Amino acid sequence: MPTLLHLDSSPLYGRSVSRELTAAFVTEWKASHPNGKVVYRDVNAIAIPPVSAEWVGAVYTPEDVRSPQQKELLSLSDSLVAELDRADEYVIGVPMHNFGVPSALKLWIDQIARVGKTFSYADGKPKGLLTGKKSTFIVATGGIYDAQTQMASFNFVEPYLRSVFGFLGVTDAKFLTAGGTAALNQGQNRETFLAPHLQAVQTHAQTLQGGRA
Ligand SMILES: Cc1cc2nc3c(=O)[nH]c(=O)nc-3n(C[C@H](O)[C@H](O)[C@H](O)COP(=O)(O)O)c2cc1C
Repeated sequence: MPTLLHLDSSPLYGRSVSRELTAAFVTEWKASHPNGKVVYRDVNAIAIPPVSAEWVGAVYTPEDVRSPQQKELLSLSDSLVAELDRADEYVIGVPMHNFGVPSALKLWIDQIARVGKTFSYADGKPKGLLTGKKSTFIVATGGIYDAQTQMASFNFVEPYLRSVFGFLGVTDAKFLTAGGTAALNQGQNRETFLAPHLQAVQTHAQTLQGGRA
């Protein structure tokens, strides 16, 4: 059964642009995968702890000798990694916060970047273990960071996510960005603003269905 992992990370819920666009992607995906399964992960809805010395110790303790406390410490990470393993495709909503990813998403990334689980150092070289996955990142930014603009070099969202997911083996990654959402706070009509982005999401979801170019 094809499985899509739908992940959101905006704290703004009903006002969030990235949440509305990932939801549109999911609607399209469900229509083209009537037997598919969607797993939802809202990183704002769970308390993801920051990495601690004990957590790192548990990660580097061989699985068969971990104490019950160490197993407990890794249980959230284990279940988040399992969600990534089981899914064939990902759609990930990302609001830009302070030129990077929001802290809740970074906490999640720290839980899923696991040696021996999502990457390895076979032959001394890093190797991503999340292979064969298709990922769509839907980013919303208040300003505009298009290439060739003065602000382009301030965008750490896309380069960071491409690098970290690429390191984990997810190299088939498409980025769709809704830039300039600040206009909504200045009175721009939401429907008018969203229309081209909803269209882009729909077109991309249909392209995926036909196989990525
Ligand atoms: C805490 C916070 C930090 C933000 N930092 C930036 C920023 O650095 N650059 C920017 O262009 N927009 C910034 N914004 C605006 C958001 O990127 C914008 O509201 C976007 O629509 C967020 O996605 P969302 O609508 O899915 O929440 C920030 C918003 C918040 C709440």
